Amino acid sequence: MIAPMTAPAAAPTTAFDFAPLLAAGLPPPALKWTGFPKYNFVGGHNDAEEIPLGGLVAAAGAVLRREGTSLATYGLKSGPQGYRPLREFLAQKLERTAGISCTADEILITSGSLQALDLVNGILVDRGDTIITEADTYQGALNRWTRLGVHAVGIPLDRDGMRMDALAAALEDLERRGVRPKYIYTIPTVQNPTGTILSEARRVELLRLAERFSVPIFEDDCYADLIWDGRRPPALYAMSRHGGVIHIGSFSKSIAPALRVGYIVADWSLLSRMLALKTDAGSGALEQMVLGEFCPKHFDTHVPALTRALRKKLDTLMDALNEQFGTAAEFEEPKGGIFLWVKLPDAVDTQKLYQPALAAGVAINPGAEWSTDKAHGRSRTRLCFANPTPEAIRAGVAALAEVCRREFGVPARIANVARVPAAE
Ligand SMILES: Cc1ncc(COP(=O)(O)O)c(C=O)c1O
Repeated sequence: MIAPMTAPAAAPTTAFDFAPLLAAGLPPPALKWTGFPKYNFVGGHNDAEEIPLGGLVAAAGAVLRREGTSLATYGLKSGPQGYRPLREFLAQKLERTAGISCTADEILITSGSLQALDLVNGILVDRGDTIITEADTYQGALNRWTRLGVHAVGIPLDRDGMRMDALAAALEDLERRGVRPKYIYTIPTVQNPTGTILSEARRVELLRLAERFSVPIFEDDCYADLIWDGRRPPALYAMSRHGGVIHIGSFSKSIAPALRVGYIVADWSLLSRMLALKTDAGSGALEQMVLGEFCPKHFDTHVPALTRALRKKLDTLMDALNEQFGTAAEFEEPKGGIFLWVKLPDAVDTQKLYQPALAAGVAINPGAEWSTDKAHGRSRTRLCFANPTPEAIRAGVAALAEVCRREFGVPARIANVARVPAAE
């Protein structure tokens, strides 16, 4: 007979103190997740309605039935660079859409393109190094440079992306001071957060300057599939004559961010150095297999449908901002993507707007966290429109306007729509 279980010993009243044992230089502790805010304009979430569930389910079933036993080995039967059919799909897709001519052997699949950022930084930067970037840029990249002790020189943008006159001046200035930047980081095709696309003429100039000053280019193209009219200039990687470009991309924006699948395109001389740093025994296999099965058949029909849905949400957001903020909210219409970069009046400090907005259920990204130039970012905010429903976009912007008026006095009057005075 099995003896009944005795009651567990009472939990200790004092927890073991790990604090004195923690490694030096750790970042501040993470906050506990408490669920999504009611009106969620932060992060790079995608449109839930547009996740191609039927196709993903069918792909998962088909690939598992056919090749599921290969899960018994680390790296499947493809080795450490990632699931070969997915890399083959990428090689032909990148050629077709971005003009990149590469083979599956020049592609490394990563756990999201964030891991790609880590690997590129891992092989190139040391504490005290300098890199160049668009001044308004991806917070995930900015945080990494801060953590690594890397000095980021920001180059201002205009409607056509990074300004080449400012880049030339910065490169000359650094050369005068004997500093050779480790790379020029750019998000040239639907920039985060500005939504600009670097024109082809500027790409030529960027490559010319990079060659002249012997600085490599780090091209982050993760939004390149989400362009309203589907037209894009060739990738810098494709246009480069001297090979000094590392290209990264992601399935987070074109399919789903929770899959955590990104990739790096680079010459083997560099990939081999990154692979030596990628000590995770391979990125998640199942998501690579599902994508490798899904994409060759459905990527080309899925992406335009997703882009149409995103474009509609952008229109809803711009409409709601015009209605609620009037001329107090200024923005350039992005050429694609999932973000709107909004300038509020100088009186508004979006870092100070953040908390009261959150208390009202509205999450926004304060602009200073997305720029090397904190003063420039101060009155700006990045709004992601992909995930909230059209109703939530409208209600969220109305709630944001209410909080902004209460805290900063702008917009002067809520909704540029005549209000019926309350009956006496
Ligand atoms: C410019 C840029 N690069 C990289 C990433 C990382 O994306 P993921 O790791 O999901 O591929 C993001 C995410 O928002 C991004 O905006």
